[in-house]
Amino acid sequence: MSEENAGVSEAEIAVHWGEESYFHPPLTFVAQANLTDPSIRERFSLDNFPEYFKEFADLLTWDKYWEKTLDTSDAPFYRWFVGGKLNASYNCIDRHLPQYSNKTAIHFVPEPENERIEHVTYRELWVRVNEFAALLRDFAGVKRGDRVTIHMPMTPELPITMLACARLGAIHSVVFAGFSGKACAERIVDSESDVLVTMDSYYRNGALLDHKEKADIAFLEAEAMGHTLQKVLVWQRYAGRYSSPTPMVDGRDFIVQDLLPQYRGQRVAPESMNAEDPLFLMYTSGSTGRPKGAQHGTGGYLSYAAWTSKMIQDIHPEDVYWCMADIGWITGHSYIVYGPLALAASSVIYEGTPTYPDAGRPWRVAEELGVNIFHTSPTSIRALRKAGGGDPDKYDFHFKHMTTVGEPIEPDVWKWYYENVGKGHAAIVDTWWQTETGGFLCTTVPALDPMKPGSAGPALPGIHPVIFDEEGKEIPAGSNKAGNICIQHPWPGIFQTIWKDPERFVRTYFAKYNKNPKSTDWRDWPYMAGDGAMQAPDGYYRILGRIDDVINVAGHRLGTKELESAAMTVPEVAEAAVVAAKDQIKGIMPEIYVSLRPGVEPSEELRKRVSEAIAKEIGPIARPRGVYIVPDLPKTRSGKIMRRILAAISNNSGDVGDVTTLSNPETVDIIRTMHS
Ligand code: PRX
Repeated sequence: MSEENAGVSEAEIAVHWGEESYFHPPLTFVAQANLTDPSIRERFSLDNFPEYFKEFADLLTWDKYWEKTLDTSDAPFYRWFVGGKLNASYNCIDRHLPQYSNKTAIHFVPEPENERIEHVTYRELWVRVNEFAALLRDFAGVKRGDRVTIHMPMTPELPITMLACARLGAIHSVVFAGFSGKACAERIVDSESDVLVTMDSYYRNGALLDHKEKADIAFLEAEAMGHTLQKVLVWQRYAGRYSSPTPMVDGRDFIVQDLLPQYRGQRVAPESMNAEDPLFLMYTSGSTGRPKGAQHGTGGYLSYAAWTSKMIQDIHPEDVYWCMADIGWITGHSYIVYGPLALAASSVIYEGTPTYPDAGRPWRVAEELGVNIFHTSPTSIRALRKAGGGDPDKYDFHFKHMTTVGEPIEPDVWKWYYENVGKGHAAIVDTWWQTETGGFLCTTVPALDPMKPGSAGPALPGIHPVIFDEEGKEIPAGSNKAGNICIQHPWPGIFQTIWKDPERFVRTYFAKYNKNPKSTDWRDWPYMAGDGAMQAPDGYYRILGRIDDVINVAGHRLGTKELESAAMTVPEVAEAAVVAAKDQIKGIMPEIYVSLRPGVEPSEELRKRVSEAIAKEIGPIARPRGVYIVPDLPKTRSGKIMRRILAAISNNSGDVGDVTTLSNPETVDIIRTMHS
């Protein structure tokens, strides 16, 4: 064992982060925050589990109050708030009408800047959801328990469609609009949806895209897989004007706006759902195999989305809240639609690309609408920074609170966000969670905990993580040693199962650390997130990325994120991705791909500096075999860097796998040429 490896076993991941110092939330933020009770973590200690989750459920309006907080008799298939009845659309709309009828529920910002922003009040949302629910029920035959696939872009009609499904007790399955017709078909078939709701077109990066063509492909592909859709409902991006070159198919496709007049003024009583009835499916791709339909329940999910939105996002009804994610992802479900609307907030929906027509766009939107809570991902922050930042200081907006989600954020990028976008006076939360978890798991409580760049913070109050090594041994808390992060217990937001695949649910998330498959005690079923993480002595967690992304160099397990963060201390570097390359001598060696900030030219000198930065920050063992400066890194539509593709290139594998779900597939060939 070399010196660098000393004290690190095969089962552990080595870490070399330097400690970052704390940033404190401004007093003006603390003074108005929703959660300021310093005893919260004591009250929410494991001794009081699961009863403290009552506080979450009590944010909702129940048709029938629940009797039992948690039923574990079929662990790990849990039932939350047993005996309770409620409706999600009622909770997000109807109950706000007495007080907030004329308040904006949704600000819709079209991508073309010459189109007016649309403001949908709670009352209008109520009218539109009722009318569309009536249409779904009476025209398309949708009823309680049916699945409805929704393949729609970021327009108000998307939450209207989701909430109409929820009103009827139908289970929605939203497919990200950027996904192909084929990906949509797989989800239609798996969920056995009879109805597809789509839109004719939408704007993205300055172009009006034909979206209807994907519905035709989805229909045919699903049919080829043995499943025939009964109806395709097509919203028009511009009511009264069909905006797609793809023709409508007679008897199968129907324009929603043509049908709606028949349902004008109709009201649909919200179905009273059991707390554990499914609210939606959200498909997420595993590293292998077909997409998994994460099934989320009504009462548990909604109470978790509402509580975390109130206490961590610090949403008050008078706030203007903008989450730049897409509703086609879990972030959009929990933190554009269900959480904010359950709290009667005003939620912004932006149709297009954040940097269109330039990086100043988000700040113009923030200024025009008075946005004061902003929520985005490290990828978007890097993209904005790369595009020059758009001069946030030139615009008159002030975020009291900002969120980052989806990937570990490099401390450097965090500081740029804090200083430039937050103008030095916003509270930032770095929220770690997953499609499967329904809402945040690790984060700071913005008014209680100081921020530490690069750290997700301590766990959410009421969430109790544990870190295991590969052999299932608990890594001592606060030891700064990395391992596999798990949650010791269930929580209301956890998904209920994988749709039609309960066995895979148990195998993927619980089997590794479960000792007794027959146990009905939650203590025997830690939830395995699949991420590497470490806990510092102050209790803050640092997420190192997917455990599959760990690189083992000479018996030394390195988190890719650490190397990337080190590379990004070189100011010219905009983005970085590290992969494991097979090496004849060392077994595995890291290779790094970086893209540069605008105006910077690639050079040998720069390549050397990247390599040096990694050797200096982490140690010579981590020095990459190659540093490749590329124009852009391949990314999924949700902005995650596709290390799998880069790894295939690094290993001279002819097959880079499916690139159709990338936002920038053209980068793959460019990078391959540069690497060879
Ligand atoms: O690896 C973690 C990373 O994103 C994964 C979950 O992805 P997804 O299901 O698409 O959900 C994204 C929105 C919650 C996690 O397993 N991840 C998410 N948030 C963070 C993160 N990694 C580090 N820090 C975060 N804040």
